[in-house]
Amino acid sequence: MKMKLKWMKTLSALAVLSLVILAACSAPGGRPQTNTESVAPNQVLDFSTLYAQNCAGCHGAQGRGGAAIALANPVYLAIVDETRMRNVVANGVHGTSMPAFAQRAGGMLTEQQIDVIASGVFSRWGRKEVLDGANPPSYAAKAAGDVDHGQVVFGKYCASCHGSEGGGTSKGSAITNDSFLALVSDQALRTIVITGRPELGAPDWRGDVPGMPMADQEITDVVAWLASRRSQNPGQPYSASNYAQHPEK
Ligand code: HEC
Ligand code: HEC
Repeated sequence: MKMKLKWMKTLSALAVLSLVILAACSAPGGRPQTNTESVAPNQVLDFSTLYAQNCAGCHGAQGRGGAAIALANPVYLAIVDETRMRNVVANGVHGTSMPAFAQRAGGMLTEQQIDVIASGVFSRWGRKEVLDGANPPSYAAKAAGDVDHGQVVFGKYCASCHGSEGGGTSKGSAITNDSFLALVSDQALRTIVITGRPELGAPDWRGDVPGMPMADQEITDVVAWLASRRSQNPGQPYSASNYAQHPEK
């Protein structure tokens, strides 16, 4: 009996509360109600919602990775800067499945929504101290790569898992076949070599040969070698260097 009474009280309290809320919503001014159901898609400014709706399908729920790299990788977020992140989200990566999200580039998101996403990824998942004094290679290549030297570098750092020609072993998949290389940019290769794919057990630039971090130029060279394996089909949308700004040939 006592329990029941408590429930009744709670229920009537709730009823009163909802009346108050209803009254507040239909109150003066006749302004339209703004609850989450009625927010227009271009008014959504909540990071979690924007991420789940636009990014999670490829980069994984909570940034944990999927077909595309995990964005919730503190090593990645320590080497990439927010301007770069924003550019990629706005313009996409030409010749790959990374879409352009900015309305001015044919996408669905406003500039403000892109700001929320770009800054939210860092505030949610970044941890600058993760590098703990380590001097990371630069995000973008600083010089042209040497293909021949890149092959030597591959043998030293990568072949143990990916095979001497990159054809794959039980410890790492094939990464020199057309079906992989045709759809990935040079920058994405560089990013993966530097940051690894911890969610899949791929080491970062310090872990290929323990105790022997890769030098910046070694990374540039190994990417040049991988890129040289890509078949240059005329008419393929791929452009040798990174991002969407490059016109199609
Ligand atoms: C349809 C799949 C897909 C969706 C959706 C998608 N991405 Fe991507 N994203 C990719 C792929 C594939 C790449 C690698 C492209 C390349 O080869 O450079 C990428 C690359 C990126 C990069 C650059 C990685 C680097 O190397 O520095 C960032 C940053 C990024 N995506 C963020 C996002 C965000 C934020 C969203 C949501 C607004 C998003 N992506 C939605 C597939 C996707
Ligand atoms: C200790 C083993 C190991 C070493 C050494 C290693 N990798 Fe990997 N790598 C992996 C694993 C595991 C993955 C993720 C699963 C997969 O693709 O096999 C991966 C993924 C990758 C991918 C992404 C493949 C994809 O499908 O998205 C690339 C590119 C790559 N590695 C390049 C390299 C390069 C270049 C080197 C040398 C600089 C290297 N890896 C060294 C184990 C290794």
